[in-house]
Amino acid sequence: MTAQLLTGTPTPDLGRRPAVPGQRIVGLRCRNCDRAEALGPSYVCPACFGPLEVAYDLAAITGLIDRATIAARPAGLWRYLELLPVDAPPARGLAVGSTPLVHADRLGGALGIDRLLIKDDTRNPTLSFKDRAVAIAATRAVDFGLSALACASTGNLAGATAAAAAAVGLPAYVFIPADLEPAKIDHALAYGATVVPIDGTYDDVNRLCLEVADELGWGFVNVNLRPFYAEGSKTLAFEIAEALGWRLPDVIVAPIASGAMFIKLAKAFDELAEVGLIDRRTPVRFVGGQAAGCAPVATAFAAGTDVIDPVRTPDTIVRSLAIGNPADGRYAVELANASGGTIEAIPDAATAEAIRQVARLEGIYPETAGGVTLAAAQAARARGIIRDGDEVVALLTGNGLKTPDAVRFGEGDDGAARERARGGQPGLAPSLPPRFSAFEAWLES
Ligand SMILES: Cc1ncc(COP(=O)(O)O)c(C=O)c1O
Ligand SMILES: [Zn+2]
Repeated sequence: MTAQLLTGTPTPDLGRRPAVPGQRIVGLRCRNCDRAEALGPSYVCPACFGPLEVAYDLAAITGLIDRATIAARPAGLWRYLELLPVDAPPARGLAVGSTPLVHADRLGGALGIDRLLIKDDTRNPTLSFKDRAVAIAATRAVDFGLSALACASTGNLAGATAAAAAAVGLPAYVFIPADLEPAKIDHALAYGATVVPIDGTYDDVNRLCLEVADELGWGFVNVNLRPFYAEGSKTLAFEIAEALGWRLPDVIVAPIASGAMFIKLAKAFDELAEVGLIDRRTPVRFVGGQAAGCAPVATAFAAGTDVIDPVRTPDTIVRSLAIGNPADGRYAVELANASGGTIEAIPDAATAEAIRQVARLEGIYPETAGGVTLAAAQAARARGIIRDGDEVVALLTGNGLKTPDAVRFGEGDDGAARERARGGQPGLAPSLPPRFSAFEAWLES
């Protein structure tokens, strides 16, 4: 850590720009009271403490972008530049986005869903959808002249922030709950980040990061750069619509931690209609999933309220979604209600079973958030929210290599017990001498 980074005190209006009328990006605006703020690394409304969002002039954007222009562009999330809060693609950065939307008929059959598609976002540069959000935040951090890129992470953001910082040439500081999965810590360290484990929950980490951001002026992707960061998730929805031939599915199923990605998917669909990239905003039901051991949003939904009661001590294998006090929880509940969707609380055993199912039936291996998502799809089908013939897109937002223990969680069926009796863990033979007879004997055992 350099002394310069620690002592650099930001001026209050660091990097701010006044809004210029007629421009594509108008500025920041409070989601609660609509107050306009200049573009800069700020996230909270000075009048009502509501969240700031990026405001666009969608009428101006309508004339700037069409399907053919997008089709002619290279793969990656900058295809949708006009609907993103940056002036131009960055000079340096990772190759993020344009992940496949694949038919999952075998899994769909097992879940009773007639037309199931998987948005396979396990394949981004650091193996999660967080690369999308961080690509935008890192670009803005460079624009604003910030001296470091940082984050409060439940795991996947750690690697994404560390890698993006390496790509743009900024130091990275990653704050995590101290008991995070080792694979995620090693991942961030590999990119040269400074990892700061904090004794506490994610919400404790997040509170500390608010203070560090204020004191040191670093670019925290999900704190003072949050209005920009959150917009990155829209590119998932843009890609889904484009892959479907510029139309929308009947149902979207996605995981919820802070709720930011969930609500940005809907915003993205609205924007596509407003700028004429899709013909009309057909109804989409939004189904969300949370881990039962940390389900403040699902609990509020089930109780018929949009008041979120924070979970103080999350208890789940789904570390990536373990946010007890989700910033956008209220808006996620509103979206699920308004769209005719649902938000499901998924026990860890069902999450692990869903990971095994999709890996074995489709060859796609998600981390725990993906298991929650597919189990939520199954629950929504059972509840009748997903109906016969619906086209359903499930978002698998992180890679199973990040949570290697989860896939075996609760595996206690007969097959697993028999395998253990044969001397191996399920699917893994004991080491054998290099002779066919030995292999044959084991095979027949
Ligand atoms: C793999 C994965 N999926 C989904 C989410 C949910 O993101 P959000 O905080 O936008 O709800 C996270 C958050 O960390 C995540 O790591
Ligand atoms: Zn406000």
